[in-house]
Amino acid sequence: MFKRKSESRIILFLQEKIPRKTQSISCRSLPSHRNKLKAQPQHGAVQPMKINRNLHTNYKNMITLAEDDWNTSQHSKLSDLNVEVTDTNHLKDQYGRYFHHFCTTSYLGLDYSPALLEGAVREIRNAKTLRIANSKNRCKLNALDHYESALSDPFNCHALATLSCSAASSGILPLLAAGVLTGNQAPTMVFDKHAHYSMNHIKAACADETEVITTPHNDMNQLEALCKKHKRIAYIADGFL
Ligand SMILES: Cc1ncc(COP(=O)(O)O)c(C=O)c1O
Repeated sequence: MFKRKSESRIILFLQEKIPRKTQSISCRSLPSHRNKLKAQPQHGAVQPMKINRNLHTNYKNMITLAEDDWNTSQHSKLSDLNVEVTDTNHLKDQYGRYFHHFCTTSYLGLDYSPALLEGAVREIRNAKTLRIANSKNRCKLNALDHYESALSDPFNCHALATLSCSAASSGILPLLAAGVLTGNQAPTMVFDKHAHYSMNHIKAACADETEVITTPHNDMNQLEALCKKHKRIAYIADGFL
């Protein structure tokens, strides 16, 4: 018998031991596996599966909390802006307002780089397509490989270009949670409460691989306590609030 922390692993264990009809039962609803095994009717109906929902995400709650603010922001013309670029980070919106765009997710500031723009336009013209319509793992434009190599060198890493930051974290965080990047030893994933919201939905995927904890913003004391308690911690903090 082996027993691991995550519920899904325990369910796997039960699947090996009990008749097929009683397989889909949550372990959390009863004090122990043994009691549960005893409690199953021998030839009875399948027990309804108990599922714990909203452990890491709660979209209905999120909408309830956020909807008013989004509506206010839309009515105040602070969101849903469609803009033209008049100069680097200078924009004009559909209401004729000119403004300086300070809110940026362009950490490397490459969006307005003349050399990069020129190269991108040239390569798209050469290729006569925006991309190869396939998974990039299988087949991608040669220019993209050059771009990734050129980005890798200065950072002394293997840089991967993704369509957005969110796509990158969706791909990487579950792998990190599974321990694939740490010698197959899954770290406990500790998310700062204010880490970028686009990572929130990934917590559920990570939680199927390892323990996921959300700590108050910048709470180094709690992080320190967790580091003392757990063998391996991956701390996810993104943002500067
Ligand atoms: C971790 C992270 N994910 C996502 C985003 C949002 O960017 P994108 O629209 O490229 O996903 C940001 C931007 O600040 C970010 O820091």
